[in-house]
Order: sequence, then structure tokens, then C-alpha cells
Amino acid sequence: MIPERMIDEIRQSTDIVDVVSDYVRLQPSGQRFKALSPFTQEKTPSFIVSPDRQMYKCFSSGKGGNVFTFVMEMEKVTFPEAVEMLAKRAGIDTGKYRTERPRQDEKRESAQFDTLRWAARLFHSTLESEAGGAALAYLTGKRGLEPGTIRRFGLGFAPESWDYLLHAAERDRAPIEQLVSLGLLTRHPKRNTLYDTFRNRVIFPIFTVGGQVAGFGGRTLASDAETPKYINSPESASFEKSKLLYGMHAAKNEIRRRETAILVEGYMDVIAMHQAGFPNTVASCGTALTRYQAKILKRYTSRVLFLYDGDNAGKKSMLAGIDILLAEGLTPWVVMLPGAEDPDSFIRNYGKEAFLGELESEKSSFQDFQLRCYQEAGWMESPDTASKAISAMTRSIALIADPVQKELYLDELAKKLDLGRQTLREVMATSDTGRGTREPRQRRDEPAPQPPARQAPLSVTERTFLEALLESTFYGNEVLAFAASHESMFHLENPAAQAIFGHLVTRFREMSDRDGHIDITSEISSIGMEEAGNLAFDILFRLPVNETTRPTPAEIEQHARRCLSHFLVAVKTLVLEPLQKEKESINAQLQCATAAHEQERLSRALLEHIKHTRAMEQEVDESIRGILGE
Ligand code: UTP
Ligand code: MN
Repeated sequence: MIPERMIDEIRQSTDIVDVVSDYVRLQPSGQRFKALSPFTQEKTPSFIVSPDRQMYKCFSSGKGGNVFTFVMEMEKVTFPEAVEMLAKRAGIDTGKYRTERPRQDEKRESAQFDTLRWAARLFHSTLESEAGGAALAYLTGKRGLEPGTIRRFGLGFAPESWDYLLHAAERDRAPIEQLVSLGLLTRHPKRNTLYDTFRNRVIFPIFTVGGQVAGFGGRTLASDAETPKYINSPESASFEKSKLLYGMHAAKNEIRRRETAILVEGYMDVIAMHQAGFPNTVASCGTALTRYQAKILKRYTSRVLFLYDGDNAGKKSMLAGIDILLAEGLTPWVVMLPGAEDPDSFIRNYGKEAFLGELESEKSSFQDFQLRCYQEAGWMESPDTASKAISAMTRSIALIADPVQKELYLDELAKKLDLGRQTLREVMATSDTGRGTREPRQRRDEPAPQPPARQAPLSVTERTFLEALLESTFYGNEVLAFAASHESMFHLENPAAQAIFGHLVTRFREMSDRDGHIDITSEISSIGMEEAGNLAFDILFRLPVNETTRPTPAEIEQHARRCLSHFLVAVKTLVLEPLQKEKESINAQLQCATAAHEQERLSRALLEHIKHTRAMEQEVDESIRGILGE
């Protein structure tokens, strides 16, 4: 847990306008500021920052939040990382809060990161020491890496020894058990002794988006056939390769700036590309591209350029990757390299200029690439295979969510194939129904996308209810207190509304000081449901801004009263509306009932219900009178 007081101090010494200005150009607009949204590629500014509420709202993506969520979103970091960054920015020494005891699992996790960092430093200094001579010569000579590049990626070396790391750990008092669980030391199954996992290997630290070492890849310097070329840290809760992109920590800002991410296959490809002037390059660490990785990319750009090996395996991976990206709303492009070159070998063999030329002349749309693959494989020559290829291509189009894009791609394909658009549409319709049988598309380790649940839309009453509840927190906790003590009386149909309400009530109950101040933007940021957070920010943002920046106590009292009465009116409707509906339903049944005993039962039910409704109405009215002091 990050101490509440530390977050408070950061909040008080940070101005959101200042922070946002680091990323986008803000222009004053009344009491607020506006800019082109950093989250979308818009042409007219719809990103608004409110200095008095210390919030932002992006009206084109619906995202809203406070300074912490803004940094999380822009830097793609976790909440603790954003807190750390903002503390640094504000010049706050977070060390003084460190004495507060962290939770057990957080302690373990941060100790794990410490151990990983220790190992990365050891490997790196080994590479630069005498023991790393041959490895360094390999990297700078044969692989053409500059010293700066080696440093930037923190490359290291694990010597050909069974106990180099083990001895270093004993010397530096690094936790041995943790090194075992991180897979850096291996336990011999029979002899029960420990030995180094990475031996005679160049070490590639794999970083989180925030720049912490999460694991390692190691390339052997041996050239025998038995030794695997690469080995990686074993998967664990804190090192899931399917959720990491190699090079992302160094590439993220450039991906945003250049509006394109380049996707390559290998560690060395990423490094060579960065060195050659393409710092917007990342790799999926030796696995097929996953939807999770696509989602990460989506946060920075909507365009992804595949630059995989030019061999058959590379082509297959790109074909699979295209569908993953399309399903996440990204636009894939492809560059096919000649022969069996990968980007790293191409740049080394032919130079940067030739590579740049290749990028320009060989870049094709995903559709052209697909067609070319099927043509080269001879599929387009006979009707039966051609029809298979065409249905595969229309299935890709079917994955695109944007209806206009979908239509345009369909159009394109029809032209390229010289087929009727209607024919393709029919193919698409039939292949779409076969969704369940197309297994390879959906990898087993990823959950199938859920069809959106049918949700009750936000009603007018629910909106009024939320407006009053949220606004009231600026003037005290009276409304929250009432809500918390009457929670069971009513229910909000809209799930996002219910999530906001439930969250605030829970947080209010957790507060040790019930009259203390609730920082509403922070509370909203910590609602688990994204949709709920966005709705709450949207409502807060639309509330009128007070003309007076420093209201008098009397004015505060007046605002509080107004919120409370709006809230209570909404509550009354929320309580009575469903009761009224139920009454109508019983009444309708009564009209249709033919059997005498049915009629009797329903009449009694109706009477009961009317009594119950009246009692509820009275209870609500009394509460309202009591609380409004009338
Ligand atoms: P490649 O075999 O294409 O290697 O694997 P490479 O990146 O071109 O390496 P060099 O140029 O020969 O040094 C591509 C990626 O697949 C993963 C690694 O991430 C590698 O960078 N891989 C490959 C493994 O994880 N294990 C392996 O045994 C091989
Ligand atoms: Mn290579």
C-alpha cells in the first residue's frame, strides 16, 4: 500500500495543467484548457483539462481522470510507478514514508525486482570486465553493436561456469532462494545442489514498460547443435512473456511520436533497429503475438508494421499476427524481407540506406500481403484452394470493428480479385458463422471475447442520482452518509452506476474519519470498472463550475443542501419506480386471470403490495424530512 499521506502530498504539490503540458500543447479555453487528445489521432481538440477540479476529460475516447491516471495512461505504468514519477517531478522525498510497513506480497515483489536488478548489474559488469572479453568482441565485432547501444539495453554476459552467479550471490548476500524461484539458479534434481542456469550466454534483460527488469533472455556463444540458441527466464506471475514486449520501455515514446510501432521477431532485431534509427521497434519475446500484446501496442498507436524474418515461419507468424491486430482495432502493415534475412542481418549485410529503401518499396497493406502469400503458395490457381484463401481473407475483414473500414477493405478485395462485392459479403457472412470452428485464430491461453452483456442504459433518475452524489462530495459527506445507511433500499439497474455508488459507499465506510475530506477524483480513479470510472468523470466534468473559487461557509452549506435534496428526490424515484412497475404487473395479471382462486390470490397480492409501497413511501419521506430538517 502506498501511504495515503504521501499521495496527498504529491497531489497538493502537483498541478495537472503543468503535468499535461509536458505531453501536449494546452490552450486556454475559458476557465479550462483544451488540446488535441493525446489518446486519439483527432483533428479538433476534445481533450479538456480543468485546473479547479484537477481533472481531465477526453471527449473523443471518453477517458477521464486525475493527474495519476493521466501519467499511468501516457507512460503506460502502474499506479505505484506513476506515484513515484510524480513524486520525483515534484521533488518530494518518498523515503520518509518508507517506514510504513508495506504489505507482505508487495514486499516480496519489490524484493524480487531488487534481486533481478542485482543480477542484471552483475551480468552487465561482467560483460565489461575481463571475463566478458570474448562476448564483448562478439557483440561489437560480429554483431556490430556500439557501446552506447549495449549500455542502453543493459546487455550482459554469463560466463561459462556452473557457479559464477552462485558465488557472486553468496558474496553480495543476494537471496539464493529467490534466485532459484526466478530461474537464475537451477537445483540439480538428484544431487540437490545449485548451479547457474545461464552459462556462456549473452544476457538480454527484459524490462517492464516502466523499465524494471522482469526477466532475462540468453543467447549462447557456442555453435554446437545441441545447445539451444536462446533460453529465457521461466514464466511466473511476474514474468509472463505473452504480456511483455521486448524493447517497449525504450520504444514507447517513439511509437507515440512516429505513430507507428515496428514489430520484429528477435531481441537482436530490436537492438539493431534502435541503433539504425528506428527506436519505435519492439518484439514479442519469442512467442506468437498475443491479444494482450496487441492491447499494449494499441495504447500508443493504431498502426503496426510487421518486419519478421523473410522465411516461411516468418510469413506464417505475420499472417496470424495480422488477425490478432485487426481484432484489437489496429491496422497492420507488412514489409517482406528478401530470402531468409531478418532486420538485424539485413542492416548488417546491406546497410541502413538499402534498408530504408526496402522499407519504402516493400511496404504493403495487410491485404496485399495476404494475397501475395496465397498466390506464392499457388492457392489462387485452382478454384477449391482459391475459395479457401478468399474466405480466410474475408474472415480477417470480418474482424474489423469499424464499419466504414470494413466496407472499404471489402471493396478493395473485390477489386483485386475481380469478384462481385456481394459475393464476398456472402462469403464473409458464412465464414463469420463458422467462428466457433476456426480454432487456430483463438489461442487456448486467451479467453474468448465475451459478447457484450445486455446492459440497462443509464436512466435519467440514475444520472440525477449520480450527479448529486458526486457533486455533494465537494461540500461534505452528508449525502454519502445517507447513501451508506440506506443502501439496501434501492438498486441501480445500470451496472456502471451501481459500481460507482457501491464503490463510494464502501470507501466511505472504510474511512476512519467520517467527516474527513474525500478526494473524489482519486476515488473515481480506483473504481475497478473502466466504464464506471469514465462515466463518473464524465458526470463530474459536466457539472457547472462554481463562479467563486473560494466559497464562504454559507455558500458551501447552500450547495450541500441543494445536492442533498436533488439526491433525495432521485432516491425516492429509485425506490418507488420499481414498486410502481410491479403494481402494474400484478394488476395486468389480475385482469387476465380467469380462475376464481387465482383472482383472489392476485387481489390479495395487490393489496399487500399497495400497503408495502405506502410504507416505503412514508419511510423515505420521513427520512427526507428528517434529514432536510423540515
Ligand atoms: P531467431 O532464431 O530468429 O534468432 O529467434 P535471432 O533473434 O535472429 O538471433 P540471432 O540473430 O541468431 O542472434 C527469434 C527470437 O525467438 C526467440 C528469441 O526471442 C529470439 O530473439 N527464441 C529463439 C527463443 O526464445 N528460443 C530459441 O531457442 C530461439
Ligand atoms: Mn538474427
